[in-house]
Amino acid sequence: MRVLLIISGGIAAYKSLELIRGLRRHGAQVRPILTKGGAQFVTPLSVSALAQEKVYDDLFSLTDESEIGHIRLARETDLVVVAPATADILAKMANGIADDLATTALLATDRPILVAPAMNSRMWAQASTMRNMELLKANGVMTVGPAHGELAEGEIGIGRMAEPADILAAIEAALGGPLIGVRALVTSGPTHEPIDPVRYIANRSSGKQGHAIAGACARLGAAVTLVSGPSNEADPPGVETVHVETARDMLDACLQALPVDVAICAAAVSDWRPAEAETQKIKKGRRTNATSPNLELVENPDILATLGARENDRPRLVIGFAAETDDVVAYAAAKLASKGCDWILANDVSPHTGTFGGDDNKVHLISRTADAPRIEEWPEASKVEVAARLAERIAETLGSAA
Ligand SMILES: Cc1cc2nc3c(=O)[nH]c(=O)nc-3n(C[C@H](O)[C@H](O)[C@H](O)COP(=O)(O)O)c2cc1C
Repeated sequence: MRVLLIISGGIAAYKSLELIRGLRRHGAQVRPILTKGGAQFVTPLSVSALAQEKVYDDLFSLTDESEIGHIRLARETDLVVVAPATADILAKMANGIADDLATTALLATDRPILVAPAMNSRMWAQASTMRNMELLKANGVMTVGPAHGELAEGEIGIGRMAEPADILAAIEAALGGPLIGVRALVTSGPTHEPIDPVRYIANRSSGKQGHAIAGACARLGAAVTLVSGPSNEADPPGVETVHVETARDMLDACLQALPVDVAICAAAVSDWRPAEAETQKIKKGRRTNATSPNLELVENPDILATLGARENDRPRLVIGFAAETDDVVAYAAAKLASKGCDWILANDVSPHTGTFGGDDNKVHLISRTADAPRIEEWPEASKVEVAARLAERIAETLGSAA
């Protein structure tokens, strides 16, 4: 568990030292950022001694930028926690202001954010603070506290930072997905099989479904390796992405990723490749008899069948996709047996469906049982929704098999 902890300038900053101790006791790696205000309340020395990490406080530090950089700092974490979160930093977050290291990291991160507001009860009750909190919640920022109780100035009211133990519990809840501890391998996209240095055989797969599955598994807590053929899709956040070109490269990368608990083969791997890839561009009309070149094709390795047949490190769950244009379910059920996998997601990729390259998918989930294969029809949904449903189904299955 990696936590980027931002300590802003509130009197409750002293409690963040206790929070750091709690996180360390739970085995978390804590990277602290101290705002200028925060440094008025706790010293960088105390923070770094407890976190056993360098304290980051300057956006324009050349050393820090060459060592890690503010973007990596913002992303090499599982969660960003702001504790205490002052009225000031909440206002900046709600409005996209990035005028120091803490607020720039908050704007640059693609990780979940948890804030623990702490302030005087009047500051908390201000319409501006309430509006900012509404905006932050609508943007998916999670909150813990503030609590009711005695405030720094001796007043009683709402504004006290949640206790470190409550913040720790909120952190655990924020990070505790049902796939925590599960290793997943996902393949995605097409493969390119070279004919010569400028030409290749490919297919219309976009990588949208595979990338969405990798992202959905990561959001539920899995450690995901995505092996992607050439695709315009962005690497999903929180996923280790390996870029490959050919089917053979994809197989190598998949074998490198083993052992995993679940393998989801969503890539549209080219079944064949040219027997010989020419090292020079094939020129038109240069052949002895000036005829068109003949492409001799040979079969590519079958990645799904290879994973399904592994002896010692077969994933507990091997899932394939069957992209067909006719008799989709029948072909998929046959594929389930011939490839030695546990589930097949069958989808119709006939041109009229718009599945290849489109945003939606209609799938059947066909799973192996002791008797005949079980066939479930899923309603048409976005590829992101199909991915989320599949990730949840994987979590249920692996959970009940554990
Ligand atoms: C003694 C003292 C205590 C403060 N306590 C708080 C507080 O608990 N919550 C808060 O929102 N602001 C508090 N402030 C005001 C913030 O420190 C101020 O808004 C500052 O600009 C916050 O900067 P930062 O958000 O970049 O850390 C306090 C200021 C002082 C002088």
